[in-house]
Amino acid sequence: GKLARIAPSILSADFAHLARDLDRISNADFIHVDVMDGHFTGNLTFGPGMVAACKRSTDVPLDVHMMVSNPDETIGWYVEAGADMITVHAEASTHLHRTVTYLKEHGVKAGAVLNPATPVGVLEDILPELDMVLVMSVNPGFGGQRFIEGTYAKLDRLQALCQAVGAHPLIEVDGGISAANIEDVARHGADVFVAGSAVFGSSDPAAEVQRLRALAQS
Ligand code: DX5
Ligand code: ZN
Repeated sequence: GKLARIAPSILSADFAHLARDLDRISNADFIHVDVMDGHFTGNLTFGPGMVAACKRSTDVPLDVHMMVSNPDETIGWYVEAGADMITVHAEASTHLHRTVTYLKEHGVKAGAVLNPATPVGVLEDILPELDMVLVMSVNPGFGGQRFIEGTYAKLDRLQALCQAVGAHPLIEVDGGISAANIEDVARHGADVFVAGSAVFGSSDPAAEVQRLRALAQS
């Protein structure tokens, strides 16, 4: 199959041993950093200081997933902190085109995220500008949730839309991904696979990253 990229989510790492846990996944393609503000979702995690600390601690590119209200107001913090890619929720961004343009001007890859209930059609006009689309396969907020099966049909609709407008963003899927379903997710067009509990719940996270990547490419 095509190239698969694995993005372990440090939401499932041990926050008090983050450098150790980052070392354990040095073979990952991205580090997925779940920024939550206690408002857009019912959980509170990292801010720009943590993103900057991760940047100093790993050479793996940082994929910052902003689950915050009004991301257009605070996105600059994460650009300054060294994010390599930033995704903002379509539901939360009032000026998505402006925000995406801003990211690209600052040399940061730009992505838009869709919650499970948000239709792919809302991205139609911005799709050609996006480096990545992140499809949530759980309702955001917590690791260890169950993969929503309707995601497969949504990925098919997203692929059709990309084809219709001639856009080629990376497709990332986030939530409930494990060795049990990653082949199916790959078959529906995903390029980037977020995995939190599957990777950090393993006794050998690097081996799990390798196993997931091999399954997704099989
Ligand atoms: C959920 C986060 C995910 C989460 C995934 O709100 O966006 O990135 O860490 O965790 P798992 O892989 O355990 O579902
Ligand atoms: Zn995430």
